[in-house]
Amino acid sequence: MNVNLKEISIDVIKQNQHASGAFVASPNFDNYKYSWLRDGAFIAYAMDTVKEHTSAKKFYQWVDKTIKRNRPKIIQLMGKVQSNERLEPHDFLPCRYTVEGLEAKDDWPNFQLDGYGTWLWGLSEHIKLTNNKQLLEEFNQSIEDSIEYLITFWHLPNSDCWEENADKIHPSTLACIHGGLTAINEFLERDAITQTANKIKEFLMNNAIYENRFVKYIGSSSIDASLLWLSLPFGVFTPKDTYIENTVKVMEEKILHEGGVHRFPEDTYYGGGEWLLLSSWLGWYYASVGRIDEAQKQLQWVENQADEKGHMTEQVLHHVNDEGFIDHWVKLWGPVAKPLLWSHAMYLILHEQLNNED
Ligand code: BGC
Repeated sequence: MNVNLKEISIDVIKQNQHASGAFVASPNFDNYKYSWLRDGAFIAYAMDTVKEHTSAKKFYQWVDKTIKRNRPKIIQLMGKVQSNERLEPHDFLPCRYTVEGLEAKDDWPNFQLDGYGTWLWGLSEHIKLTNNKQLLEEFNQSIEDSIEYLITFWHLPNSDCWEENADKIHPSTLACIHGGLTAINEFLERDAITQTANKIKEFLMNNAIYENRFVKYIGSSSIDASLLWLSLPFGVFTPKDTYIENTVKVMEEKILHEGGVHRFPEDTYYGGGEWLLLSSWLGWYYASVGRIDEAQKQLQWVENQADEKGHMTEQVLHHVNDEGFIDHWVKLWGPVAKPLLWSHAMYLILHEQLNNED
């Protein structure tokens, strides 16, 4: 393909960053015209890796403003905790906002803790890469509120990064929380944060392992590509840790198909196809353990999925878990989202891993 996918990816991301700083998940897909903290933090990280620091900073300023605007909700929530009142899903902070930073009034499964960890991690990376410690002061309130929120609720069941299984506890969500707390604590150096991070790791060791590898959620024996996050980027375990290596082996057996990576074996969303962002993630993992040829192959596979304009979808449907569900989702929500900013972002991250001349 003779289009420059790096430049196109940067352009797609810039074109879809609202003046507020929010990144739209996908501009052509009604349910994705929002900004998720999860997608957004990885997109901002990708922009930092290609030195588009202004774009990344604008996103973090938007998150800061958005969390500050939600202060009354946080205060009310903490009040309920103090007085031992029953907590309902809508008491918690949402996982996605309108580009203006408002909560959408719909019945989306909003209680998802991972994004609040991911933004702290992404912000810490941004501060390190740009040496802009000033942001720690500027965002002080939203950082403190996010830390308190995560320390208070990390152990509760909540929807995973695929917005499913609200009644379960997910190792990949815990990875985001651990990663966010640990990253911001490099600046804050607080014992209470270290203690929570240690508790999370201990919890994972005691509850999230089956046959010497990690499971999709506590109580399940299934696998999920998001388990890669336990090592990369959140570093709860090193990429060469035996449990991580075993987890990757099971992923290769069950959800990797000629370069394409499925989310999990039981996935039926649009039939459960291969996700570009996860294929890049696996490449990123391979690069981190020196499996460069395999990392290159992952990059190549992702590049092959781009359309003639260089745009990348969320998933491709050449090889799906259950064909019967493709039509169901197309009728309900239209074709698979394209372009998906998070797919472009993960492509950029892998591309820079393999091509960075610095
Ligand atoms: C995915 C989420 C993602 C959202 C927006 C959902 O289908 O499961 O991980 O944050 O789309 O891209």
